[in-house]
Amino acid sequence: MSDKKGRVFSGARPTGRQHLGNYFGAIQNYVALQQDYDCVYCIVDVHALTTMETTENIRQNTLEMALDWLAAGIDPAQSILFVQSHVPQVLELHTYLSMVSPLGKLSELPNFKEEVKNHPNNVNYGLLGYPVLMTSDIVLYKTNVVPVGVDQQSHLEFARETVRSFNYRYQTDVLIEPQMKLTAFPKILGTDGKAKMSKSLDNHIEMASTPEETTQRVMSMLTDPQRLRRTDPGDPDVCNVYSLHKIFSKPEDVERINRECRTAEIGCVQCKRLLAENINSYFAPYREKRAALEEKEDEVWDILADGAKRASAIAEQTMIEVRDAIGLAPRQRA
Ligand code: TRP
Repeated sequence: MSDKKGRVFSGARPTGRQHLGNYFGAIQNYVALQQDYDCVYCIVDVHALTTMETTENIRQNTLEMALDWLAAGIDPAQSILFVQSHVPQVLELHTYLSMVSPLGKLSELPNFKEEVKNHPNNVNYGLLGYPVLMTSDIVLYKTNVVPVGVDQQSHLEFARETVRSFNYRYQTDVLIEPQMKLTAFPKILGTDGKAKMSKSLDNHIEMASTPEETTQRVMSMLTDPQRLRRTDPGDPDVCNVYSLHKIFSKPEDVERINRECRTAEIGCVQCKRLLAENINSYFAPYREKRAALEEKEDEVWDILADGAKRASAIAEQTMIEVRDAIGLAPRQRA
């Protein structure tokens, strides 16, 4: 390893084109961490299968997400970017770790219970083992630090406990207990101003949208519901357009909008136009880079193949140590 502070691993399910919530909740942080850590970023397609009834979009969604990550600044010369299923050792490790994963604990995890509630007709064995597979991702690459959002906190805690159980059962120290690094960014609400931005609610704004699409989405945003007429004063503190201005606009503009909204000098339409312009200029360099990459799809697949090769080298080394720690018969006589 290099002179960096240690290894970071993170993964996300292939959800296709990424939106502002994905960007500020994860991608921006992934890019920044490359400065200080050896980073491994994974498109976790096997995890995606746990909740999918049809896989027709999975290839395209994998590609779209890779395009977004690369264009946003994940640098394959520094970091490893790969697709989970390309390094099948993770599935082997998942099986071994499942032997130290108590069923009672798995079935009590909040994310599992939530999925059971949302998809009562597709509660499968793989879904229950989701955190075991996530633990395998993390420990297979000897990860020190895992950047995640709060929704993954209990999974990370599970991973840490599983490492301790494995190391204790086999009296070894081959698995490293990962540290959690919570990504702190205010939750990005969707265009409805109510729910967290998400593709499934169709309240999202994609990073890769055209300027026109972006403007259209922004113009559809809900503002302060008390402000009915143009002449009514508004309350920026309850307006999601304003909260996005705080991210995308210059401090002096944010301050002016705050003031002029309260006195009804600025109307919602004008306020949204300005926001759309600022989002568009914020993402302009990224969009240009993405468009260029889209023209070279083969290169993107090559980057992922190279990432898988580098990831495999680490993975196979870990597995040699793991099989030995468990005490399985060696493949070759020494
Ligand atoms: N469970 C994570 C999510 O839904 C994705 C994930 C899979 C992950 N494996 C991981 C995140 C390993 C961090 C580390 O967001």
